[in-house]
Amino acid sequence: MDMFEIEGARPLRGTVRAGGSKNACLPLITAALLSEEPTVIQGVPNLRDIREMVGLVRHLGARVEHGEGRIEIDPSSFSTESVPYEIMRKMRASFYAMGPMIARLGRAKVSLPGGCAIGDRPVDLHLRGFHALGVRMGRSAGYVLARHEGLTGTRLSLMGTNGTSVGATCNVLMAAALARGTTIIDDAAREPEVIELCRFLNSMGARIQGEGTNRLRIEGVERLRGTRWQVSPDRIEAATLAIAGLITHGDVVLENMPREYMGATLLALENWGADLEWRGENTLRVRRTRGPKRPLQIVTEPYPGFPTDAQPQLTALLALTPGKSAVRETIYAERFMHVPELKRLGARITTPERGRIEIAGTSALEGAAVMASDLRAGAALILAALAAHGTSQVRRIYHVERGYEKLEEKLASLGAHIRRVPESGDDPGLAETAKALKETEVSATLVDGGPPVTPARTIGTPLA
Ligand code: UD1
Repeated sequence: MDMFEIEGARPLRGTVRAGGSKNACLPLITAALLSEEPTVIQGVPNLRDIREMVGLVRHLGARVEHGEGRIEIDPSSFSTESVPYEIMRKMRASFYAMGPMIARLGRAKVSLPGGCAIGDRPVDLHLRGFHALGVRMGRSAGYVLARHEGLTGTRLSLMGTNGTSVGATCNVLMAAALARGTTIIDDAAREPEVIELCRFLNSMGARIQGEGTNRLRIEGVERLRGTRWQVSPDRIEAATLAIAGLITHGDVVLENMPREYMGATLLALENWGADLEWRGENTLRVRRTRGPKRPLQIVTEPYPGFPTDAQPQLTALLALTPGKSAVRETIYAERFMHVPELKRLGARITTPERGRIEIAGTSALEGAAVMASDLRAGAALILAALAAHGTSQVRRIYHVERGYEKLEEKLASLGAHIRRVPESGDDPGLAETAKALKETEVSATLVDGGPPVTPARTIGTPLA
């Protein structure tokens, strides 16, 4: 396993380009199964999650050519009716297979996704939607079983206790595209990834109206044709790169920015003190204004609100912004796994209540060994490490590789000192701590000969 070693406190400067959107691309790959004709998708990022999705549609029987930035899917031999746990546990977006399986095969046996580092992520809304279309559903040994004798258009709501759902909207949309009659989805998600799926399906011959609103109207068609598609740029990667420039007090030009879909993120950065200068339609220069950095009160919300997927990265920025900031997570109340790791770098963050953190911004962080728990938490740690003084090691970067293509190359091209090295047991802080301890008499006594300490049993002991 590799980790990133980062020597921080260097301003990033230069030009960098956002790649294709991972989250937009994932449902497009399974949506290609709705036709019997080949589909070509271009601008595909080279990421682990995309490779997993390609593996999934191959498992389902489709023939797939996957080259540099391009996927060609021939779904004519799509026939497999089950998605096993072995596939699902690697990536929960595998659940996107269910809509096309139901629509094309009439039945499906799909493993339920398990737990996730960012919290409980149920699939009840997906199942509610399929049920409304006339699918009989059951559960057995961790699998959802689905079967029907014909999908029938209906009116349904996809409102959940946490609001709208991107995944459920995409899944139900795919099934409804081939249902008999008209389906109206109320409380549909409005995320750009849903808009892209609507447009993609329409380019296959689907009849979907209302994209980008909370009500989608789908007139079912008998069959869909293949299509050719260029994936839009990744709004979360773009946000991450913008914050990389700002957190290091750099000056970065970002190309291929999905300007239309970044309103809330860019507004937050502007309120923080970023100077954003558009140079043409999709190129943005990002640097700090001369004024002070300002703390922020952020609430994550479904689109067009501030995206939960950029929350950990913004938290890293606010950790380095003097004053009191706060972040409330309304989508994943548990999505604060990056917080204890940011604290290892010197961030001052408290959790007064579930789903909310308060950040007492500091003017400097100090390099340390930290560990990524998930994709965006990993991105936040890399950002903090880029700004921190000294050397940091960010471990478990395989999480980051799920969603960022060539991140270290992109950051290095901006002047970051970032190296991929094999994970070792060495902690960069240990050598410095040992040196500091040797230099002071009192600590030397503690190290060499303090009284033996017997830990109280109640504080817990390692299990064998
Ligand atoms: C997608 C994104 C993910 C992003 C999330 C929210 C992909 C592959 N992933 O995930 O990066 O963080 O949108 O923008 O595109 N919920 C239910 N029942 C359901 C489904 C969802 O209660 O059946 C809840 C979830 O727990 C969450 C909220 O609804 O609190 C939103 O989840 P959802 O939009 O479905 O997220 P995903 O599509 O899984």
